[in-house]
Amino acid sequence: MKESKQTFLNLFCILWLLLLLKTASSSPPPHGKDPRPPSLPFGLYKGHTCVGCVLVVSVIEQLAQWHNSTVKAAMERLCDYIPEKLQGFCYVLAELYGPHIAELIDREMNADVVCHSLRLCKQDPGQLLCHLYSPPKVGLSVAIRKAKRIMKTSKDLKSVLGFSSVCAFPLLASLCEKIKYVLRNKLPFEDFDGDKFSTFPTLRGYHWRGRDCNDKNTTVYPGRRPDNWDAKSDSNCNGIWGVDPKDGIPYEEKFCKGADSKGVVLLGDSAGAHFHIPPEWMTVTQMSAKSFANLPMAFSDELDWPQFSEITGFLNSTIGGWTDSLYLRLRKRNRCNHRDLQNISQNGGSSGNLLSLIKSLARNQLLDNPAIVIYATIGNDVCNGERDTLAHMTTPKEMLSNVVQALRYLDSHLPNGSHVILTGLVDGRFLWDNLHDRYHPLGQLNKDVTYSQLYSFLDCLQVSPCSGWLTPNETLRNLTSERALQLSNVLKEIARSEKFANFDIFYMDFPLRQTAEEWRKMGGEPWQLIEPVDGFHPSQIAAALGTGITWQRALHEWPQVLGKQNPFNDQIEAIFKDQGGH
Ligand SMILES: *[C@@H]1O[C@H](CO)[C@@H](O)[C@H](O)[C@H]1NC(C)=O
Ligand SMILES: *[C@@H]1O[C@H](CO)[C@@H](O)[C@H](O)[C@H]1NC(C)=O
Ligand SMILES: *[C@@H]1O[C@H](CO)[C@@H](O)[C@H](O)[C@H]1NC(C)=O
Ligand SMILES: *[C@@H]1O[C@H](CO)[C@@H](O)[C@H](O)[C@H]1NC(C)=O
Ligand SMILES: *[C@@H]1O[C@H](CO)[C@@H](O)[C@H](O)[C@H]1NC(C)=O
Ligand SMILES: *[C@@H]1O[C@H](CO)[C@@H](O)[C@H](O)[C@H]1NC(C)=O
Ligand SMILES: *[C@@H]1O[C@H](CO)[C@@H](O)[C@H](O)[C@H]1NC(C)=O
Repeated sequence: MKESKQTFLNLFCILWLLLLLKTASSSPPPHGKDPRPPSLPFGLYKGHTCVGCVLVVSVIEQLAQWHNSTVKAAMERLCDYIPEKLQGFCYVLAELYGPHIAELIDREMNADVVCHSLRLCKQDPGQLLCHLYSPPKVGLSVAIRKAKRIMKTSKDLKSVLGFSSVCAFPLLASLCEKIKYVLRNKLPFEDFDGDKFSTFPTLRGYHWRGRDCNDKNTTVYPGRRPDNWDAKSDSNCNGIWGVDPKDGIPYEEKFCKGADSKGVVLLGDSAGAHFHIPPEWMTVTQMSAKSFANLPMAFSDELDWPQFSEITGFLNSTIGGWTDSLYLRLRKRNRCNHRDLQNISQNGGSSGNLLSLIKSLARNQLLDNPAIVIYATIGNDVCNGERDTLAHMTTPKEMLSNVVQALRYLDSHLPNGSHVILTGLVDGRFLWDNLHDRYHPLGQLNKDVTYSQLYSFLDCLQVSPCSGWLTPNETLRNLTSERALQLSNVLKEIARSEKFANFDIFYMDFPLRQTAEEWRKMGGEPWQLIEPVDGFHPSQIAAALGTGITWQRALHEWPQVLGKQNPFNDQIEAIFKDQGGH
């Protein structure tokens, strides 16, 4: 996977983890020499470190402004807001960088200047000086030189923390392990799992797949056909098991035999996984301890919220909007489908790297029920952060080859009677058109950061999630959309012409236009359909609306995909209640 595609995957990890790794691997700035290259494979995250620094320094600066406090008090306030597990870490960070940041901010240096002078932002030879805010009057490079002079006279920065002590914090330990392992073996993150289903919520446990109901027995998992009609135990985890004492018939047989049960699998990208960074993390006017309560969970789910997503969501959204998902609708249609969901999306997922991701599909061709697979890589084939972004986009020929390979793999792993729905790419011009002159959450207090500025900053650092669409260059935006359309047409043609033994296949356009239309009718604004912090991903509202549209389409055009309404739903609910949650 190209590093630029991971932009937002770790955007907030940088906040804590990478700032420290950086410190650990750099020599102290006041001695003037360039820091040594990082000893760990984290050079990868250079641009992200800069984004993280500017973000944190901005928040500190704005907290001080909003509460009319000193910078030191603002840092302490921020650390107080952070969940207890991470507080120690926060104080260490404040201790380490605090005095320097405070001194510079007190002299009215903005976050760009502070981060450049701390060398957390760097200017590559021959490249521009990247900045989020408008440069100070004296000019950015003059201000940075001045800031560095101030720093020289202040106390040395100590690089007191090594990688090991960072990773000693309980929450970060697992993340560190995961990152180290994955980087060392050049694996997709999904491969970190040993067992594919789990009772542990994050680190790709049940937020990503239906919760396993017996982690110790590998023949027990959601989606399998029941063992001996589950007379003794719940082998398929759908909450239905045991024997009706009235007639001696197992409930599973009574309610689910011939019910056309099927699971949902999403093969996709960060939009499918529902990538989201809570805006409350950077809106100082409303900031409180409550704002960060979800920080630890968000971390270990890679900042994705699959539990609320449009295909596999199953929990009520706590991140605005509401939850509606193909899974919930299928479950409502047939309660025997309870818990049969798999989300094998990944941030950065594209037609190419899905080929390795797909290997984590957990479906036994002989033992399991059929599945509905949604293939939705809605942007990453045309989105990258490269300077010559056009040259790095997937070509129609590559698309054809990637998708056909993926489908062949599915054909050899999906139970007969499955369905595959290919979703077209989005037209990302929607993003620029609706956001470029609006204020980013970070810019709302002082009206000083628009999305256009954010996009340029990320582009300059080569960590833009999509250089082709998040750009003022209209020609480039048009060319990106043109390629996206070509790739969608490849998918459409595949659905029309290819045949597979174990599934039928359909194509649908990404329902952006209908979603926007429906939202407008509900009194909403188009910008609300985009994630406010990254200005790129579909928001929770867009996801939930999209589900309804996809469902209606399937119901009218391909009803066989959704299966029958189960006449026993009420009885199942009466006997098994909520069937044991997820
Ligand atoms: C901010 O605090 C300073 C010193 O405590 C005080 O002089 C000033 O009036 C305060 N400003 C506002 C706007 O409250
Ligand atoms: C595991 O589950 C299967 C299916 O329900 C059952 O037949 C088997 O006895 C279980 N194995 C153990 C060790 O519990
Ligand atoms: C799958 O994971 C992606 C990425 O985290 C998420 O956006 C999506 O909502 C998830 N889908 C389901 C069905 O849970
Ligand atoms: C969501 O909340 C409503 C009540 O607000 C509740 O009836 C429903 O069961 C919840 N749904 C899920 C999936 O938790
Ligand atoms: C799959 O099932 C259909 C009918 O349900 C059958 O015609 C077809 O031969 C089956 N395919 C395979 C590979 O078993
Ligand atoms: C971009 O595409 C739009 C819509 O097709 C068109 O109106 C516009 O003139 C194009 N702009 C450029 C610079 O090519
Ligand atoms: C806009 O993008 C196109 C295509 O990459 C490029 O040829 C052109 O020079 C760019 N225009 C400007 C003003 O940068």
